[in-house]
Amino acid sequence: MRIRPSEITPEPVYRSRREFLAGIAGLGAAAAFAQTSSAEQVMNVMLIERLQYKHNARYSTTEAANSLADITGYNNFYEFGTGKDDPARNAGSLRPRPWSVVVDGECEDKGRYTLEDLLKPHALEERIYRLRCVEAWSMVIPWVGFPLGDLVKRLKPTSRAKYVEFTTLMDLKQMPGQRSHVLDWPYLEALRMDEAMHPLAILAVGLYGKVLPNQNGAPLRLVVPWKYGFKSIKSIVRIRFTERMPATTWALSAPSEYGFYANVNPEVDHPRWSQKRERRIGSDSFLSRQPTAKFNGYAAEVASLYSGMDLARNF
Ligand code: MTE
Repeated sequence: MRIRPSEITPEPVYRSRREFLAGIAGLGAAAAFAQTSSAEQVMNVMLIERLQYKHNARYSTTEAANSLADITGYNNFYEFGTGKDDPARNAGSLRPRPWSVVVDGECEDKGRYTLEDLLKPHALEERIYRLRCVEAWSMVIPWVGFPLGDLVKRLKPTSRAKYVEFTTLMDLKQMPGQRSHVLDWPYLEALRMDEAMHPLAILAVGLYGKVLPNQNGAPLRLVVPWKYGFKSIKSIVRIRFTERMPATTWALSAPSEYGFYANVNPEVDHPRWSQKRERRIGSDSFLSRQPTAKFNGYAAEVASLYSGMDLARNF
């Protein structure tokens, strides 16, 4: 995302945003990784708002993170085009502030929440997760976010709530890719309630210590590290609790290829390609194809959620 100096947020606006983000944003935190600043200069990306967070080592991989250039330059965000470099080029039209999220369905605390109200009670953590795309490539991304389960609890789901559905913004002006019929818009995703409550599932607001760039799903996106990347829905404007399993975008578009669960599984091939191996974006060709781990390496934490289920049928 390239910016002209005139597009940089004026300081007073920036300061009031920081006040709104009470306690979560600030200039104090040092860049988490030395490579951030050099990548930032090269990319000229707008990562000006630093976040305050604690690193969560328990839930972070020790594998080397991908560069900021890879993470912000090789994306899937069909609302901005289907090419991997389209989001970086086109997502400048997204206006991630002001932002609000509608909460409805089977819960007590329904309503429209401003982004600031939604975030205020939640302390931010850095989690370095592998992201395994269904297209058999992967990246390692230092997200900043908070457990989805903490927000779910706060919204007080009723006993009828069995699933949580998420919806991306629908706006042809901000998201020009929605003029194309490549998917049914708006983009929809959902989790079963126990998946949503799992401590590994987070809502991310940043990466590399700063607010999310537009192409990565600003200002709020889901990250579910044991599932294929398409479950990690971007730019969320609605959270709805439901009794029935919701329809989800990729399962609607090609039900024989993409299921509701979408757990990373090297034993279940995609009908058109193998899922046994993956290419780590940014690595050299000799090392670039590595075996895919079941549940993307998080089996010890999440396999029990699916005990008794046939994962070849429930793909
Ligand atoms: N969310 C929306 N709204 N639209 C999309 O096209 N693509 C998904 C997911 N979330 C997508 C989305 C896919 S296929 C992947 S692999 C990840 O976002 C990519 O996230 P990243 O670009 O931040 O790495």
